[in-house]
Amino acid sequence: MIGRLNHVAIVVPDIAAASALYRTALGADVSDAVDMPDHGVTTVFITLPNTKIELLQPLGATSPVQGFLDRNPSGGMHHVCYEVEDILAARDHLKAEGARVLGDGEPKIGAHGKPVLFLHPKDFCGTLVEIEQA
Ligand code: CO
Repeated sequence: MIGRLNHVAIVVPDIAAASALYRTALGADVSDAVDMPDHGVTTVFITLPNTKIELLQPLGATSPVQGFLDRNPSGGMHHVCYEVEDILAARDHLKAEGARVLGDGEPKIGAHGKPVLFLHPKDFCGTLVEIEQA
């Protein structure tokens, strides 16, 4: 069912420093930082030949990644995002398999303007999984 790895997301305490690290030390193609107040994050996308890395820094008092940063002050891997062809069919299949879909179970428009859902990390080997309709 799942297709390409769309991105790996890493929460960072200082997105400017993290961007510089990826640009300079790793020689990667790094975007400008974009504030996404609706999502409570500032994002940077790093384009690799086969996937993307998404750097996330908390934005605002109710950021959904602030708790993660509090537990991991130097940052860390936050989630992986797999592409699916049909997000509603994928959701229904996952629920039938016993996986917990976070939130109200309805897809939200994610950082790339496409519908996404998140799956409970305890159901997927301790890793938060995002699915995105490709
Ligand atoms: Co993501």
